[in-house]
Amino acid sequence: MISEALQRARDYESRYAPLIPDTERPLFHATPSVGWMNDPNGFSFYRGECHLFYQYHPYSCEWGPMHWGHLKTKDFIRWERLPVVLAPDKLYDSAGCFSGSAQELPDGRHLLLYTGVRRKGETDVQTQCVAVGDGVNYEKYPLNPVLDETDLPQGGSRADFRDPKLWASDSGYDAVIGNRTPDGSGAALLFHSPDGFQWTFARTLDRSQNRYGRMWECPDYFPLGGRQILFVSPQDMAPIGLEFHAGNGVVCLIGEEGKSGFVRQAVQAVDYGIDFYAPQTLLTPDGRRVMIGWMQNWNTVGHRLPGCRWFGQMSVPRELSLRDGRLTQAPVRELEQYRGEAVRYRGVPLEGPLTLPGVRGRVLDMTVSVRPAGDRLRAFRLYIAEGKGYETALRWDPEEGVMELDRSGSGICQDVVHARRFPVQAEDGGLTLRVVLDRFSVEVFASGGRAAASAVLCTPQEADGIRFEADGAALLDVEKYELVFDGREGESR
Ligand code: FRU
Repeated sequence: MISEALQRARDYESRYAPLIPDTERPLFHATPSVGWMNDPNGFSFYRGECHLFYQYHPYSCEWGPMHWGHLKTKDFIRWERLPVVLAPDKLYDSAGCFSGSAQELPDGRHLLLYTGVRRKGETDVQTQCVAVGDGVNYEKYPLNPVLDETDLPQGGSRADFRDPKLWASDSGYDAVIGNRTPDGSGAALLFHSPDGFQWTFARTLDRSQNRYGRMWECPDYFPLGGRQILFVSPQDMAPIGLEFHAGNGVVCLIGEEGKSGFVRQAVQAVDYGIDFYAPQTLLTPDGRRVMIGWMQNWNTVGHRLPGCRWFGQMSVPRELSLRDGRLTQAPVRELEQYRGEAVRYRGVPLEGPLTLPGVRGRVLDMTVSVRPAGDRLRAFRLYIAEGKGYETALRWDPEEGVMELDRSGSGICQDVVHARRFPVQAEDGGLTLRVVLDRFSVEVFASGGRAAASAVLCTPQEADGIRFEADGAALLDVEKYELVFDGREGESR
């Protein structure tokens, strides 16, 4: 049975989504059907296809009572729209169906585990709830909620208990869930279920202890390269050097499963740019760990493209690996299938500014390498989305080992964060950068993906220039591909 609230949302999106022209959207980054999108939810394989749900408020470009929007894909690049699946239509989720995850059950059904939020007096009560479906329609479990405040360890907050991420384990399912501890900061709690419906608390995996932010949102826990990785998205982080900036961020805790739980060994940022939050991962049938994140930031979400009827987009799905103990990322290899003709330059002398014939565009996949030419290379700068007074800059100081992503000239005329500096060490005195552009965003993968940085752009599409610049002397290699969809080149749309 479809509730009135869900039917209303379905009617609304089928009426208004078709009015948004493709030219107003990115070409291969997931966006909402209409209205507002935040976190990725339920990123999972089901009957051989990858499903992606998302935090969704169809009725405006503002956050509001959360629904779950729905997309699916065969290759992580082209997304098919499906009708909204969850609306806040039960008492236990009347204030919103918050973030959660999904798994295919042995009986062929698709299980969603999400946070139901209910207002009780002055506070929210957050519980975990289940819905099952067939990839299009989902029904909420009659015995919801499946976890509530009585399942929390002592002192755990019932107002901040959310974002379950589940996976299949040897004896059923495990899930990691964010919670606020009595010291006011965050924890990642582990729960177990034999069947996906009955859940019990197992243990606390790790806690912030007020060091890595306060409430830990959207945890994820998975093996990678022989280690265990715990992702958390903390609120209210204090900055730590160039590794973590103030506010919301994403922290990667690298460790091992010891006898009594997760033993933390190293900590790093997941994305050093401006817009990245609340990522979720899945394991592909061919064994890749793929992550997708919300390409936005709660502190700068105030900005909208003028007249736009959608807000929020996901990052390109990224393959994760662990190299020399560091989390490393690359856009999913499927992106390469959409590469059009290559424009290649090798060993071009770079002293001062340079533009190269054929190297421009706003929908592309480009790899740039610079190396010092005799003299020391003192600085390298790459400008993208340039023209008509706009530009977005990547400035690299090899000596300091610091890169700056600066989008102050990207059309966002609000006093919000526009620049971030992050560590990028020279390799043999040089640098390799992969840059992925898709109309309204830039994603940068430096040094073979050891540092990723994402930012949304609002620059007019005609500003499609690319310029290179060096202080000192360098040699430059460029390999640039336009990304082509349905025989049409990205930049000509
Ligand atoms: C993270 C978050 C989650 C919550 C959802 C609500 O961005 O705050 O903790 O489930 O968004 O939309």
